[in-house]
Amino acid sequence: MIKENSISFQFLAEPTDVNFGGNVHGGAVMKWIDQVSFACATNWSGTYCVTIYVGGIRFHQPIKIGDLVKLDARVIYTGRTSMHIMVDVMRKNIRSQNKFAKTTHCIIVFVAVNEEGLPVEIPVWKPATLYDIKLETYAKKLMDMRKDIEQEMSLFTDS
Ligand SMILES: CC(C)(COP(=O)(O)OP(=O)(O)OC[C@H]1O[C@@H](n2cnc3c(N)ncnc32)[C@H](O)[C@@H]1OP(=O)(O)O)[C@@H](O)C(=O)NCCC(=O)NCCS
Repeated sequence: MIKENSISFQFLAEPTDVNFGGNVHGGAVMKWIDQVSFACATNWSGTYCVTIYVGGIRFHQPIKIGDLVKLDARVIYTGRTSMHIMVDVMRKNIRSQNKFAKTTHCIIVFVAVNEEGLPVEIPVWKPATLYDIKLETYAKKLMDMRKDIEQEMSLFTDS
């Protein structure tokens, strides 16, 4: 079976997604990111997966209620048990805009686990194009940078 390394969601931002300012709640966007990347990781690994890391979520522009929302998730690096998923969130006003505008980009890491919740091996993703190689290099660079960030944060995360 040929495995798909990407998955997309498209839907309308609903009135129930609203925040106190009238736009889509940041928490709703984070939930969508978690869902699309979970679907992508599970689809790739064929196993139940859990989130181990979410990094650098930046909200570039608000999403309005009624906007068409698109989320693209793709595997950009695999380790032995982990998958690094790149997620782009986009929006467009379906009455007045032809193109989607990017509102959020982040990397989220999932680990495939067995019934005991222990990490299990996953199929390797091999970059096939120059763009894939660029993405894998990007994932590895972020992984290295994260070591410094985690070192800095350990003062407050270690109990
Ligand atoms: C995910 C979990 C099973 C991993 O177990 P663990 O013993 O801590 O992890 P390991 O040291 O065996 O590492 C597992 C993988 O995670 C990766 N990993 C560990 N720390 C990481 C971090 N900070 N960022 C990214 N990846 C990380 C490791 O590199 C390894 O990947 P690899 O096998 O591809 O090299 C465990 O940490 C856990 O259950 N966490 C809670 C998950 C959760 O509840 N998520 C939220 C709800 S889904």
